[in-house]
Amino acid sequence: MEGIKIAPSILAWDLGNLEKAVEISVEGKADQVHLDVIDGNFAPNITFGPGTVKALRHLTDMKFDTHLMIQNPQNYAEKFLDAGSDLLTFHAEVLNGRTFDELHRSVRARGKEVGLAIKPQTDLPGWARDRLDKVSALVVMTVNPGFSGQRMDMSVMPKLQRLSRLVKERGLGTDIEIDGGVEPENVAEVVRSGGNVLVAGAGVYAKEDPVGAIAVLRKEAEKARGSR
Ligand code: DX5
Ligand code: ZN
Repeated sequence: MEGIKIAPSILAWDLGNLEKAVEISVEGKADQVHLDVIDGNFAPNITFGPGTVKALRHLTDMKFDTHLMIQNPQNYAEKFLDAGSDLLTFHAEVLNGRTFDELHRSVRARGKEVGLAIKPQTDLPGWARDRLDKVSALVVMTVNPGFSGQRMDMSVMPKLQRLSRLVKERGLGTDIEIDGGVEPENVAEVVRSGGNVLVAGAGVYAKEDPVGAIAVLRKEAEKARGSR
């Protein structure tokens, strides 16, 4: 975990004009673009696939943080790497130690990073605790996967605190990414609980000034960090 990072989630923008969503992230000097891939199976929505990631790749060198909410990530990891994803996040709910190791090997072979996500009700499984050093970003979801614009589930905060302590105790540099319902009003609590990467869909793209909203989130987060 280093500094605060802002990761706008383009799912909250007009899906017919995702180029504009990426441009807003670039203009607002976000740290990474969050791309939510949902297959209608793992979660109740269908978004986009590797073709869309590839089509957006030419717009920027910014990190493409691809959140795979799909039932069989093994069948698609290579395709997202080919498309230009930099961080590939898999859900712990559909993996075990063996399948994680396989995916980790193929992502690292391409020089890319592995993220591991958990839903609000999921505790980090034992196999994942044992492999925390292989994870670049631990994605702690604060809404049930599927849709942008939901309210943050604050009951996840104690888990977030525990995981952030675990990362610190192990002396790891793992990013702790908070995904779901991030708004200027809850950033302070999220940062005080140990989150450093803030994913924001509606918190950026539903605002009147989405470019400015990125700076607002950063300012709130840095203020909270300073007062920890
Ligand atoms: C939920 C996605 C989130 C979400 C973020 O399935 O993983 O990234 O779209 O959007 P907001 O910030 O609006 O909850
Ligand atoms: Zn996401």
